[in-house]
Amino acid sequence: MPRKANILVVDDEKKLCHYLKKELLRKGYEVQDAGEGKEAMDLLARQCADVVLLDIALPGESGVEVLERIRKEHPLAKVIMLTGNATVETALESMKLGAYDYLTKPYDLAELCLVIDRAFSESLLRRENEVLHRRFSRESQFDLFVGEDPGVQEALRMAEKAAGASSSVLISGETGTGKEIIARMIHRKSARRDESFLALNCAAFQDNLLESELFGHERGAFTDASRQKPGLVELADRGSLFLDEIGDMSPGIQAKVLRFLDSGEFRRVGGTRNMKTDIRVLSATHRDLPKAIQERKFRDDLYFRLNVVAIRLPPLRERRGDIPLLAEHFLKKCSASIVTRSRSLSPDALDALKDYPWPGNVRELENIIERAMILSEGEAIRREDIASCLQGTASAGARPKDNSLAEAERCHILKVLAAEGGNKSRAARSLGVDVKTLYNKLRDYEADT
Ligand SMILES: Nc1ncnc2c1ncn2[C@@H]1O[C@H](COP(=O)(O)OP(=O)(O)OP(=O)(O)O)[C@@H](O)[C@H]1O
Ligand SMILES: [Mg+2]
Repeated sequence: MPRKANILVVDDEKKLCHYLKKELLRKGYEVQDAGEGKEAMDLLARQCADVVLLDIALPGESGVEVLERIRKEHPLAKVIMLTGNATVETALESMKLGAYDYLTKPYDLAELCLVIDRAFSESLLRRENEVLHRRFSRESQFDLFVGEDPGVQEALRMAEKAAGASSSVLISGETGTGKEIIARMIHRKSARRDESFLALNCAAFQDNLLESELFGHERGAFTDASRQKPGLVELADRGSLFLDEIGDMSPGIQAKVLRFLDSGEFRRVGGTRNMKTDIRVLSATHRDLPKAIQERKFRDDLYFRLNVVAIRLPPLRERRGDIPLLAEHFLKKCSASIVTRSRSLSPDALDALKDYPWPGNVRELENIIERAMILSEGEAIRREDIASCLQGTASAGARPKDNSLAEAERCHILKVLAAEGGNKSRAARSLGVDVKTLYNKLRDYEADT
């Protein structure tokens, strides 16, 4: 049987108090009682009650004052005010101060129990949420950005500073260097943390789709637009919008984003009305934007808008000192989700990691550790395990299943993607197809497996 509420009755009328206690005990509740505020607070300090039945007219500290203290010191306790007719107004007042409910004396015992049970189940729910929330924040310790390299520390300092302001931040770095974690961290530490963080990969959409993803569209704006759809700039209102692969935006979209950033106003595709939204833009790119500006592929005015705070993440090969630390971090992170005996690295396995050039940077390191943990059979991951995983990367998942042309294409695409360290934009360029095509193919492959 589920447990019943733990109740504290606070009333200066001794007789009533005892009667109530006896009846509630009989119904299976745990009950304590107190004659005035101080005694009640002392009892709560020792053992917090689920539900407090609080008389409004107490000697000394008033019921409302006690209510305020309980709300502050024991926010999980639900408080039900008990009131005589004369004090109904005060009872209403106390609801504003966070009382769960109030009952007018003389009340019906059955009704009281009903209110108590309802209050209790709400407080249980609230506690469960709290637990989930804690568990979640414990999990997100893996969102930690690990690294002691001076370049990384500098990036973290900038991120910390940027979080306090509302200015645009441009995060640059090769693929897999942690640009997105940094963006999320800035959002989490900013005043906007309770609002949404939405991300858009600008390389994954063709122009017209990108525009509609960003700014939304009206019904009938184009052939497929059977319904009106809000864009991310609207959905992220009061939060942060993360524009990933910003260097891949076409000049047309660049102009529209610039106009939006200058005015804070936008129009849905096919719309006639200017709309306003309040978002903070974080963006990331693996491209050398100053070079793209020289080549007239990226607008300098947009660059200056996005780059108010610049954060650069160094590639892993320039901070090999962080490899042991990162490896340790990923061992812990992966052992939370993989059932394996290998929870450590042998010294020569670590040496192998330190020697490797890491074209896919930290993401590649994470993948290798994960794979090695799955493959290795001993308690510590050996050099051979690492070596076979590293060989695997160049052709990851790319063994033909048959002789068909489609299968050869699939293998080739996966090989090129692995060689580019998982970076889809670079892989697409190297394959001579547009990124959208690559995304579609990868989606198909995933659907097949
Ligand atoms: N310093 C770090 N500490 C811990 N984990 C990291 C670090 N850097 C990257 N990672 C991990 O590596 C993976 C890739 O990181 P992220 O997605 O942020 O990279 P990115 O720079 O956005 O890559 P891309 O350019 O390919 O989009 C993630 O799983 C992330 O958790
Ligand atoms: Mg990214």
